[in-house]
Amino acid sequence: QDHGYRHVLPGEHVYDGVLFFGYSPPDVLDAVKEFKVRDDDVFVVSYPKAGTTWLQEILWLVMNDGDFDGATKTPVYFRSPFLEFKDLVLNEVGIDLAIAMRSPRVIKSHLPFRMMPKQSLYLLSLQFVVVFRNPKDVCVSYYNFYKASSSFGEFTGTWRDFLIMFLTGRVDHGSWFDFTLSWWERRTEPNVYIVFYEDLKKDLKGEIRKIADFVGKNDLSDELLEKIATHCSFSSMRKNPMTNHEDVYSINKQVSPFLRKGIAGDWKNQFSVSQNEDFDAVYKQKMGDVEIPFQYEV
Ligand code: A3P
Repeated sequence: QDHGYRHVLPGEHVYDGVLFFGYSPPDVLDAVKEFKVRDDDVFVVSYPKAGTTWLQEILWLVMNDGDFDGATKTPVYFRSPFLEFKDLVLNEVGIDLAIAMRSPRVIKSHLPFRMMPKQSLYLLSLQFVVVFRNPKDVCVSYYNFYKASSSFGEFTGTWRDFLIMFLTGRVDHGSWFDFTLSWWERRTEPNVYIVFYEDLKKDLKGEIRKIADFVGKNDLSDELLEKIATHCSFSSMRKNPMTNHEDVYSINKQVSPFLRKGIAGDWKNQFSVSQNEDFDAVYKQKMGDVEIPFQYEV
């Protein structure tokens, strides 16, 4: 439904039905399709705010056999490039970072499956670790990120405005429903592994073991997995300058830090009863019979 507030993203455009802003311009999205993948690439795929950074740090350490020394030297967003992102201020393109990088690469993307590099359709050795998080918490996290990040232009709307934007896909990277359905449809492909944010909250080490097995790193010791889990806890990632994004020029941490709360169920502090009912109604309408076992609290 229409509402009074209209937030215009800087450089916004629609590509293949998905709303993007200037940091993912059409030429970059074209180049993503032609991007040359390697056999041992791992993609971390997620809708924004689902726990992407968490998985990037986990997978980078898993793929690099627990190179904690390397992890202290370079911020996670340089170790694991963001495929469809062009930093207009730093003049860096995710694709270029990826091309220059040695293997194994851990590449981040928020794109629905159809927009992935064309080669991923037939290169089955390529692995996709897809992070899902219940959409109410995603929406609250995204709202706080919109308020704190100058990249989206000054967001002056209310929570209610943002909720409507989210439900109608009028946010950067478009509709959560579209993204989620595109990957859920592929969940039985042997090279697709879906991990739930809430499961990571419940049993981080156990989930890291499953992720490591999926990417073929089944030889990692229990002790190493324990160390990775400790390194990737919310409190230690929040303290760690290589993961907490405190040096990212566009994020005002006084408004909301990048690692904000890191919990499941925060939506209950934000949604009114009627907003929750509206959300459930839209969810039902968009998802139809598709049943994804999201957990709204842990
Ligand atoms: P909140 O805003 O709810 O705190 P993304 O990396 O996809 O942008 O997602 C960011 C969200 O993941 C934030 O959620 C952030 O706090 C959360 N997050 C990042 N690292 C985490 C960790 N180690 N444990 C729990 N949550 C984490």
